[in-house]
Amino acid sequence: MSIIEQAAERLEQLRKAGIEVPVITPGSAQPEGAAAAGAPGAAAPVDAQQAAPSGGAPKKQSRRVALDLERLQAAGLVTPASSNSKIAGEMRVIKRPLLANAQGKGAPKVERGNLIMVTSSLASEGKTFVAVNLALSIAMEVDSTVLLVDGDVVAPGVMHTLGLSESKGLIDLLTTPGLEVGDVMFKTNVERLSILPAGTAHDRASELLAGDGMARLIRDLAARYPERIILFDSPPLLATTESRSLAAHMGQIVMVVEADRTPRGTVEDALSKIEACPVVMTVLNKAVESELGSYYSYRSGEGRKRA
Ligand SMILES: Nc1ncnc2c1ncn2[C@@H]1O[C@H](COP(=O)(O)OP(=O)(O)OP(=O)(O)O)[C@@H](O)[C@H]1O
Ligand SMILES: [Mg+2]
Repeated sequence: MSIIEQAAERLEQLRKAGIEVPVITPGSAQPEGAAAAGAPGAAAPVDAQQAAPSGGAPKKQSRRVALDLERLQAAGLVTPASSNSKIAGEMRVIKRPLLANAQGKGAPKVERGNLIMVTSSLASEGKTFVAVNLALSIAMEVDSTVLLVDGDVVAPGVMHTLGLSESKGLIDLLTTPGLEVGDVMFKTNVERLSILPAGTAHDRASELLAGDGMARLIRDLAARYPERIILFDSPPLLATTESRSLAAHMGQIVMVVEADRTPRGTVEDALSKIEACPVVMTVLNKAVESELGSYYSYRSGEGRKRA
């Protein structure tokens, strides 16, 4: 059986299981990311600037970083200059219902719908690729701002994928009294996109994500700018417990399934871990679009919202 036939069969199995999915085709992304951190030309974060207004106390400003958009585009990611690309179109199909649910435009507003997590059953299915592209795509909407949070605190990938160096972030917020989101978040040269890195490695990272401090932080993040989309990259659901802890706070989850790789039972097992989330959208990644066609809707089920 050819790879395409196998992928089509897998998709058919998922559809029979009640899972219909948007499709992302394999892009021209270079496997290790042309924009990888440390690569020549990779952008380095610029530290928090301390602006001192005349006669007043220094005013703290967010850290800023310049994404190298040409390199990101060459690596197959969505950028403002590539709004007509295939990946930009695929992300549009995914983001529209998510934004409609979050903003209550054209769909009933989903509670905590602005808290969205991207996850998958297994490692390497494309969570970070989808999270980064989705964040870039959402930032391109005139009426949406997005904070991309690297919630994969054990194996972070957001900064690397964007060609940036790791830096203080989420874990530091949970371990450093007095540290605020504005101290560790990066604003970017993509106007409506900010990034919160995973932060300093910590041997109790899983417990920290499951703790009260994380619940408080997510509540604060969501309350600070209620209209802002907060998009979490995360570890695989079946490998560790962090994603399940994060899922408990989310209004919407994007479940990435790698075409031709993840068995149906594995996907169902992973979906059973996030049953409490009101909206779960399953996305088939690395599928061959011309053969599979485009499928898109929500997995329906008890307590779940239909597309
Ligand atoms: N649709 C796609 N087209 C091209 N390359 C892709 C696509 N999806 C993922 N990739 C590539 O596959 C590799 C794995 O993707 P990614 O790192 O996003 O997976 P992950 O699920 O986040 O992995 P991990 O579980 O290790 O965090 C990366 O090199 C990424 O660039
Ligand atoms: Mg990842």
